[in-house]
Amino acid sequence: MLSVQDVMSRSPIIPVISIKSAEEMLFLADALIEGGVDIFEITLRTPKALEAIEAVAKEFPHAMTGAGTVINSKTFGDAEDAGAKFAISPGLTLELVHHDRTIPLLPGVATASEIMCALEYGFDAFKLFPASIVGGVGALKAFRGPFNDVMFCPTGGINATNAREYLELPNVACIGGSWIVPSDLIHEKRFDEITRLTKEALRLLN
Ligand code: 3PG
Repeated sequence: MLSVQDVMSRSPIIPVISIKSAEEMLFLADALIEGGVDIFEITLRTPKALEAIEAVAKEFPHAMTGAGTVINSKTFGDAEDAGAKFAISPGLTLELVHHDRTIPLLPGVATASEIMCALEYGFDAFKLFPASIVGGVGALKAFRGPFNDVMFCPTGGINATNAREYLELPNVACIGGSWIVPSDLIHEKRFDEITRLTKEALRLLN
């Protein structure tokens, strides 16, 4: 099984994707890979998300295709069955803790108490969600005090302007965001523009 560290070290950016069809997702995956990012968080927020995970996992077996918005054991199992290599959740519940995982879970946290509870259950790396609302860079700097060894993937409200500030923090392994995969560009099939945004983001962050 992959580790959460494998997932977090794959790329400085994990694109957070909301997709309408498996076909669109295949074009999008291709555009992202062309831009230099081969990890995808396909959120389970659309009717075709599982189909899209399955299609990308088959078509791009070397890419790291994962599921986002995994909010309970059922959605976790669905993501595993579709071939997701990792799961990301906006928060953590006992149902998710006790789910018999075959893939790593990156759970979301927003407060010190949530981090402490999750540490008790053996997690030591988290999505900070929604990052910009729950304190952003300031919160991550503050969490570094009591939770020195904990690593984060802040997500929510991150964009080309503030991404670097997050990524420079010693307790941030990667960031998540949708700004390189805007829905309007996907629907208009402007995949070249997505490749351009991806390259630009990576240039900015390296
Ligand atoms: C989400 O789960 O919606 C992510 O946090 C994406 O947030 P963003 O659209 O602000 O990047």
